[in-house]
Amino acid sequence: MVRETRLDPDDFIYPLFVRSGRGVKSEISAMPGNYHFSVDRLVQEVGEAIEDGVRAVILFGIPDHKDAVGTAAYDDGAPVQSAVRALHESYSDLTVVTDVCLCEYTDHGHCGVVRDGEVVNDDTLELLARTAVSQARAGANVIAPSDMMDGRVGAIREALDEAGFESLPILSYAAKYASSFYGPFREAAGSAPQFGDRKAYQMDPANSDEALREVALDLEEGADIVMVKPALSYLDVIRRVKDAFGVPVAAYNVSGEFSMVAAAAANGWIDRERIVLEILTSIKRAGADIILTYHAREAARLLR
Ligand code: PBG
Repeated sequence: MVRETRLDPDDFIYPLFVRSGRGVKSEISAMPGNYHFSVDRLVQEVGEAIEDGVRAVILFGIPDHKDAVGTAAYDDGAPVQSAVRALHESYSDLTVVTDVCLCEYTDHGHCGVVRDGEVVNDDTLELLARTAVSQARAGANVIAPSDMMDGRVGAIREALDEAGFESLPILSYAAKYASSFYGPFREAAGSAPQFGDRKAYQMDPANSDEALREVALDLEEGADIVMVKPALSYLDVIRRVKDAFGVPVAAYNVSGEFSMVAAAAANGWIDRERIVLEILTSIKRAGADIILTYHAREAARLLR
């Protein structure tokens, strides 16, 4: 009766990786229990997740071809766009969030267009906007830009409005740190930068005043939900953002955070079920309304 924080499966967004083909379900070695799915197998997985109590998913695409400008990101027939259509055909009240970024789609692995060894912010905006509109046309319910280019929320908002998607919400990865906790995801998405790092566009883990400035900018540009990422080393940032703005806040319990738990549990060093619920509770207690987590299915099951 006196418990202050309660987890609910409605809090979770379940991240999934989708690629082309049929009948594909191949495990990501650094993220046991997570897979690359072809669209048909993805539909199956999501059906089972819904039975467990999951109500929302976020999709990441694994393209067949990568090039310098991430063409596959804004191809209407690409795996993510096809998956959104297929999921809506099968499940009427599922929320489908789509990640907008170029790093999974560029051969150099950066989140934007590269010129003379540098990511060019403003040239990237148009491609991100095009990606968002293509995902919206496929039926995405929430657009989630993760690239961290300056001005991308405004650019995406404008493009969505022009295309007739005025009421489609934007969940912006607003305070996204240049973190080592993304390692397993980069293996999963084959998106590790081929040169340099992401420190020019992602944030320094040492800063939290800057996180508030990043969030303020994204809200001004039209973000409806703001995200802090990663979650666990940044619980203080989640709390500051929630207190300062009072808007819906999401937190991304990222791949490295997931894989550490999975590895320790596989060795019998920790009690996986209790740790998962403790971790997710702490993220919610810090102020997150929404948690993106690879534990979504198991946590939803545990909460039943
Ligand atoms: C793409 C993106 C990344 C993640 C989500 N979207 C990787 C990155 O910035 O390198 C990481 C998610 C995770 O680690 O679970 N920009």
